Amino acid sequence: MVAITDLHLVASGKVREIYDLDDELLLVASDRISTYDAVHPNPVPGKGAVLTAISTFWFERTRDLVPNHLVSVTAGVPAAVRGRAMVVRKLRMLPVEAIVRGYLSGSGWRDYQQTGAVSGVRLPAGLRESDRLPEPIFTPTTKAGIGHDEPLDFERLAELLADRELAERLRESSVTLYRHAAEHARANGIILADTKFEFGLDAGGALTLGDEVCTPDSSRFWPVEGYEPGHGQPSFDKQIARDWAAGTGWDKLPPAPEIPDHIVARTRARYIEAYERLTGTSFTDWLVRTGAPETRAVSG
Ligand SMILES: Nc1ncnc2c1ncn2[C@@H]1O[C@H](COP(=O)(O)OP(=O)(O)OP(=O)(O)O)[C@@H](O)[C@H]1O
Ligand SMILES: [Mg+2]
Repeated sequence: MVAITDLHLVASGKVREIYDLDDELLLVASDRISTYDAVHPNPVPGKGAVLTAISTFWFERTRDLVPNHLVSVTAGVPAAVRGRAMVVRKLRMLPVEAIVRGYLSGSGWRDYQQTGAVSGVRLPAGLRESDRLPEPIFTPTTKAGIGHDEPLDFERLAELLADRELAERLRESSVTLYRHAAEHARANGIILADTKFEFGLDAGGALTLGDEVCTPDSSRFWPVEGYEPGHGQPSFDKQIARDWAAGTGWDKLPPAPEIPDHIVARTRARYIEAYERLTGTSFTDWLVRTGAPETRAVSG
């Protein structure tokens, strides 16, 4: 089997590494964690596997709704990264972030307060922060290499893609996926407030879902317990680390401080809980299915 050290690293993001496999890519999620946009020096063990497991769950569940890039989480995955890596088809990525919002939060809430609309989508008056929207809205942005992503209204999206019909399919696919995932998550105790999809075109030119899907890193996950509009909501996965970080007096600029063991342990448990709530299966089963190193250590 191919060793991870023999592969060609094409990119390393804040939390993932990407390796080239000719017509395919290997996406490896690390255990790195960021709060306030700064990556902490120590990892949360298991986080990369949870993110990969959650994306895989959605890819497998929604492949009949929208085609996606997932090829395998076992065949072709080097032993050292089993459980937190997937082989995907290489796509020509569209230069946009396909964001869907079901609740009013973050930059959506700020835009709404200033203009009564989000990315050109007009909303009813009198909504509060974190309110559920009457319908999910599609609020794409540019995907800037460096610097800030700019909101795009539908007209500007169609211009940027130079293809109105493609823009329409992008909106339709994004909203369909969000509705499906948000409904499933809500029934299992998690509010999927908003999420970001990335799409590309496959070798035949078909619109294909890529990147990661409805993970806590690409979405806002809120606990259903205690949900209350009128203010911001706690993050399902990161709140423990954020509260700790805010309490240290850190100025929230890099470098981020080392997270103490008890906060790491509680954060790890939260990620695993997110996976187990969403899928109704145990995280250990995922590690066994993929032959992750931690299970090989246990079984000898
Ligand atoms: N099937 C695919 N084919 C080609 N590129 C892909 C595919 N799936 C995802 N990508 C791209 O791989 C990259 C994943 O990088 P990653 O998310 O780790 O870092 P980033 O997006 O550059 O930065 P950040 O850490 O802020 O997310 C993205 O640029 C994404 O668009
Ligand atoms: Mg990314």
